Amino acid sequence: MRSHYCGVVDAGFIDQEVTLCGWVHRRRDHGGVIFIDLRDREGLIQVVIDPDTAEIFSIAEQVRNEYVLKITGKVRARPPGTTNDDMPTGQIEVLAKDLVVLNAAETPPFQIDDDDVQEETRMRYRYIDLRRPKMQQRMRLRSAVTAKLRSFLDAEGFLDVETPILTRATPEGARDYLVPSRTHQGEFFALPQSPQLFKQILMMSGIDRYYQFARCFRDEDLRADRQPEFSQLDIEMSFVEEKDVMGTMERMMKELFASELNVDLGESFPTMTYAEAMMRYGSDKPDLRIDLELIELSDILKNVDFKVFSGPASDPQGRVAAICVKDGCKLTRKVIDQYDEYVRRYGAKGLAYIKCNDVAAGRDGLQSPIVKNIDDESLAKIIEATGAETGDLIFFGAGKSTVVNDSLGALRIKIGHDQGLVAEGWRPLWVVDFPMFEWDEREKRWSALHHPFTAPSINDPAQLRSEPGSALSRAYDMVLNGSEVGGGSIRIHDNNMQHAVLELLGIGPEEAEDKFGFLLNALRYGAPPHGGLAFGIDRIVMLMAGADSIRDVMAFPKTQSASCPLTNAPGKVSDRQMRELNLRPRKVAEKAGEESTKADS
Ligand code: AMO
Ligand code: AMP
Repeated sequence: MRSHYCGVVDAGFIDQEVTLCGWVHRRRDHGGVIFIDLRDREGLIQVVIDPDTAEIFSIAEQVRNEYVLKITGKVRARPPGTTNDDMPTGQIEVLAKDLVVLNAAETPPFQIDDDDVQEETRMRYRYIDLRRPKMQQRMRLRSAVTAKLRSFLDAEGFLDVETPILTRATPEGARDYLVPSRTHQGEFFALPQSPQLFKQILMMSGIDRYYQFARCFRDEDLRADRQPEFSQLDIEMSFVEEKDVMGTMERMMKELFASELNVDLGESFPTMTYAEAMMRYGSDKPDLRIDLELIELSDILKNVDFKVFSGPASDPQGRVAAICVKDGCKLTRKVIDQYDEYVRRYGAKGLAYIKCNDVAAGRDGLQSPIVKNIDDESLAKIIEATGAETGDLIFFGAGKSTVVNDSLGALRIKIGHDQGLVAEGWRPLWVVDFPMFEWDEREKRWSALHHPFTAPSINDPAQLRSEPGSALSRAYDMVLNGSEVGGGSIRIHDNNMQHAVLELLGIGPEEAEDKFGFLLNALRYGAPPHGGLAFGIDRIVMLMAGADSIRDVMAFPKTQSASCPLTNAPGKVSDRQMRELNLRPRKVAEKAGEESTKADS
């Protein structure tokens, strides 16, 4: 229908006739002349309708925002003084000769250039939201990213293999989305939390190098960087060790950033152990752009008279750490109180601080609710360990290590953003040497930090059984600017080791056979050493686009409560469908003794 996109017609087209199709971005009537900014995927162009062309002029008088038009006309230079250097089409306009309304539009629920629209409304009218130039750009970036990643992997000999969506549960730590089977009544498929087991089976099938843009489903608490349905670039390789997988993936990311953002991610990504990351940043996904670190003070504070510090400092499960904020003395009482409130959300019991008004003056130069509890020598050691100088402020966290890490880890990010301490640029790193297991205090059993198919660094199942707490795993996470963008591991390819790990996780032989029998069997028929990883594509595109949430780089995301306002999913199904599936709502006695219904089988 058209000869060109609106957004590409520039001064080189002067005197040419063009036919354009698009949406009315804005219509202005100017002393008898009508101007229409016509918009398509590539941008805006100014169309002029002169009253001399009476027939199309009267049509143009009727058009409103978001009408869909086809316009033919001649490109001409804009009169001097009316050009716009910020737009590619800013030097020209199109004098319309023919104008057809391809479709009318009701008044849109929001204007395309209104940036302050509720997200629920944006999702409900996603087709309008996606017309925004910003969203168009993001969709385009996303497409370019997946195209680039595909071409890299194709060139490296990876095969794109699809794996089932209707499958059995894959344990990645979230709740499953279940689909009832009609042909096997009372039984359910689970949607994959990841293609983990299938990609391992593909290695056992001799595929050697696999990739897939895989949709994953996880029924978990949603956040800015978590959706119930998201996309992984899932990868697996045979006959590899950590360095092979990490090296290939690093090259891929470097090529991606170079080609799409013209960014050099650096020579080689630094590697940090999990223990170091927790110690220095309180997080296993440290944002290295923020130059604030947790400074360990437990040794210094073991014997002070202040129980708030000496207790956790002497407890093997506890920790006392500090963050020294340069020039932090300028923080007001109100801001400090806000930070106090902030860390309490992470379970901290308080946020002690010292304002170093004059470090040379010793105790007298320190302003703080806690210095009275601490002896001179310990105070001096604190100043030395934190490197605090006059004008700095030291925050303290004391308590269970997990609480101190969570709270101070979050606080350093918050202070970094609040106080403008986030450096420009990209800071990738690998986090490695994760513990293999975590003790789950509530369930009184070991749980896997990654998934149960990750190989331990100990090769001997007997030794692993005897000291599970000290075993590290052969896992690696890729972290970029404080976001975990990918994670993976070298896998267990030995049947005995897989049995040992499942057993340690409290999964007995029967349950193991029922849930993962197919994998355990495959391990007995010639499983090569293998490993891989999966990237969160939504997160990578979010970071590259500078968006705040992965919802902004997904065409059709879900809300915080995992629903879709566009389609109104999830929705009720007919009685007939329920009967076919042999499902019926279960009567549940409520607290008040009333009866209500819930879906159940
Ligand atoms: P993992 O669970 O770490 O590993 O997931 C890999 C990557 O996927 C992204 N991600 C998510 N993105 C959006 N919404 C979510 N709910 C969500 N959950 C995870 C993250 C994460 O780094 N099978 C393993 C991979 C492997 O071992 O090869 C796995 O799924 O960026
Ligand atoms: P208190 O002795 O409870 O009055 O606390 C004195 C100061 O220590 C206050 O500024 C508290 O915010 C702070 N504080 C109390 N408990 C902790 C803790 N676990 N970690 C860090 N600071 C704390």
